[in-house]
Amino acid sequence: MGHADPQLSTTAVASDSHALDNFWMPFSPNKEFKAEPRLLVKGEGMYVWTAAGKKVLDASSGLFCVAAGHCRPEIAEAVYSQLKTLDYAAPFARGHPKSFQLAREVTEFTPTGLDRIFFVGSGSESIDSAMKMALAYHRARGQGQRQLFISRERAYHGVNMGGVALSGMINNRKAFGVGLPGVYHMRHTALPQNKFVKGQPETGADLAEDLQRYCAMYGGDNIAAVFIEPTAGSFGCLPPPKGYLNRLREICDQHGILLVFDEVITGWGRMGANFGAQAFGVTPDLMCMAKAITNGAQPMGAVAARTDIYDTITNAGPAKGIEFFHGYTYSAHPACVAAGLAMMKIFREEKLIDRAAAMAPYFIDAVFSLADLPVVVDIRAIGMMAAVEVAVEGSPGARGHELQKRLFDAGINLKSTGDSLIIAPPFISEKSHIDHIVSVLREVLSKP
Ligand SMILES: Cc1ncc(COP(=O)(O)O)c(C=O)c1O
Repeated sequence: MGHADPQLSTTAVASDSHALDNFWMPFSPNKEFKAEPRLLVKGEGMYVWTAAGKKVLDASSGLFCVAAGHCRPEIAEAVYSQLKTLDYAAPFARGHPKSFQLAREVTEFTPTGLDRIFFVGSGSESIDSAMKMALAYHRARGQGQRQLFISRERAYHGVNMGGVALSGMINNRKAFGVGLPGVYHMRHTALPQNKFVKGQPETGADLAEDLQRYCAMYGGDNIAAVFIEPTAGSFGCLPPPKGYLNRLREICDQHGILLVFDEVITGWGRMGANFGAQAFGVTPDLMCMAKAITNGAQPMGAVAARTDIYDTITNAGPAKGIEFFHGYTYSAHPACVAAGLAMMKIFREEKLIDRAAAMAPYFIDAVFSLADLPVVVDIRAIGMMAAVEVAVEGSPGARGHELQKRLFDAGINLKSTGDSLIIAPPFISEKSHIDHIVSVLREVLSKP
């Protein structure tokens, strides 16, 4: 398996200097990449291969998606078979049985009570869908004045306009203005005293009082929902201080505000439990998910809603006719549903989430062994996700970006955000894979 399939090689790219011109790459340094492309052509298990046949360990599960490892034949076969049988079914006022089956199977993993599942095409769509659900729910209860949303600095809630407004990562916002009015951001919880803490920090729960201040300032009864990643992922693994999420839950209950967990990364085992909700013992009212729901093999997301949120919106609608004017052409697409069902089977039969939970302590200790390196200024880790933050060199993010490329060339694929290197390997990782990731990190970070 040392060489890529020659059929997949990029001879066309090599021989045509304009071969990469037309694809406007998302969230990428287009000019830099096109001058020095790192193209992937094959994946299997823990690894991906470049066009030149180089084998690279996928230490970030793609973008936190590939929990069960790459190219699972069960998923590929389920999708192929579905596409031969029913390739598309309009999801509006039509349906196909497997979407109902997948919704039911998803609820085997969601917290009790979050059992109404709305399918979408991505994490970003799940966020904007949840915003609309919150607004529609309050309006149906005669509280249409609740138009404000609260989120947090350093949050990432996807790229649709609602999610951009919620997000607290400045580069994702500044070119586009504020996104939506009526979104306020609580302070983040990356406190200096929480550096090099394994798991949840002891200090910082009091930052949840920012929500109480917004309630006092703008009126708790004007706030529709609070959006929170149980552990901020894209910023670079920021676990919640102990008691922080519980306090947000209390304040939301006190003011009738919906608590929405963005579990796009933290869901499906990444925190060592089904969802962050179970890992941290706090149940939200709406929960957004995507990524590992199909092992990344098909684009899909979902919102899990409390039964009574569905009931309130649905019962407020007409006896016959649409109750919630929202949905996507590709909601519950048959191929995505097939991939989702195959993935649910893998979760169940391979006890994949238990496996993640069992490996997490070893993984975290291994990553923390890098703390002695002079270039490392912080390590944060929880479940099967960790961030190694390096000292800024030149402009913020420049060193992180360079290191991420050097790590790839040394055989480790991972995501960098700013100067944090994010490690989130598939749940099929063995100790030897973790050891390898950490030894390559040590080697590369020793020569900053
Ligand atoms: C917490 C969180 N929310 C939302 C999203 C957006 O998901 P997508 O890229 O599938 O639209 C992401 C993507 O990484 C994410 O990490």
